Amino acid sequence: MNLTKHGNPRAKATLTGALLALGLAGAAQAIAQCGANPCAAKKSGAMQEQHDDPCAAKDPCAWKNPCATKKPCATKNPCATKNPCAEKNPCAMKNPCATKNPCAVKRPADYTPSYAESGDNPQELITQGRTLFQDTSLSGNGMSCASCHGVEQDEAYQATFERPFPHPVAMGKNLYGMNEVHADEMVQICMLNPMAAQPFAWESNQLSALSAYVVEVQKRFAGQSYDL
Ligand code: HEC
Repeated sequence: MNLTKHGNPRAKATLTGALLALGLAGAAQAIAQCGANPCAAKKSGAMQEQHDDPCAAKDPCAWKNPCATKKPCATKNPCATKNPCAEKNPCAMKNPCATKNPCAVKRPADYTPSYAESGDNPQELITQGRTLFQDTSLSGNGMSCASCHGVEQDEAYQATFERPFPHPVAMGKNLYGMNEVHADEMVQICMLNPMAAQPFAWESNQLSALSAYVVEVQKRFAGQSYDL
């Protein structure tokens, strides 16, 4: 836009006034004007005569659009990623544990574990668990437990794993509201979630073997003597 060339003193004065007003009034006024769309008002008169709508090219409110920052859901909806209960909590809809398997990861009331959480387990059971730990056919997504956790080295565990079972685990708390998690419950949680598979039958040998194995892994992780 070349105002001098255009030679319309009224247009020049008005535009200068408008620019001054925007410049001097500061952010508060700019924000206030955004609501009322200042461009709408200024389209009439001098600027239109110039066939040059400065608002079309440069929205004076764009840089201070309060909606851009105040729309909290646009980018940071905490529910989008953090509400695990929406689909994963089997207890959300029904009375937990009352009927068939709504609480797939919690020990059922009538269940007696056939591994020792204290760690006194037969070597054969632990070895069997070690094999299962590396078995990708257990998952629904091609992973094995070892894909995330390793075999010779411990990976993807958090500091809570340093405490003997049962203990608090963020995944158990976040997904299922569990304050403490037993080794077999942790196996079930990882089966259902990262492994994208069904949980084991509670009385199954596989669950016992994997539980016995992770009890030993826990000891290694905690820097105690272990038997792997
Ligand atoms: C896709 C990655 C992934 C796979 C596969 C996986 N896990 Fe996990 N597992 C995790 C993550 C992440 C954590 C940490 C959870 C936490 O501490 O909140 C975890 C934690 C654990 C823990 C320790 C929790 C504690 O502090 O007591 C055990 C035990 C465990 N997993 C066992 C298994 C077993 C058994 C399998 C296979 C059936 C398995 N995981 C498969 C990701 C995985």
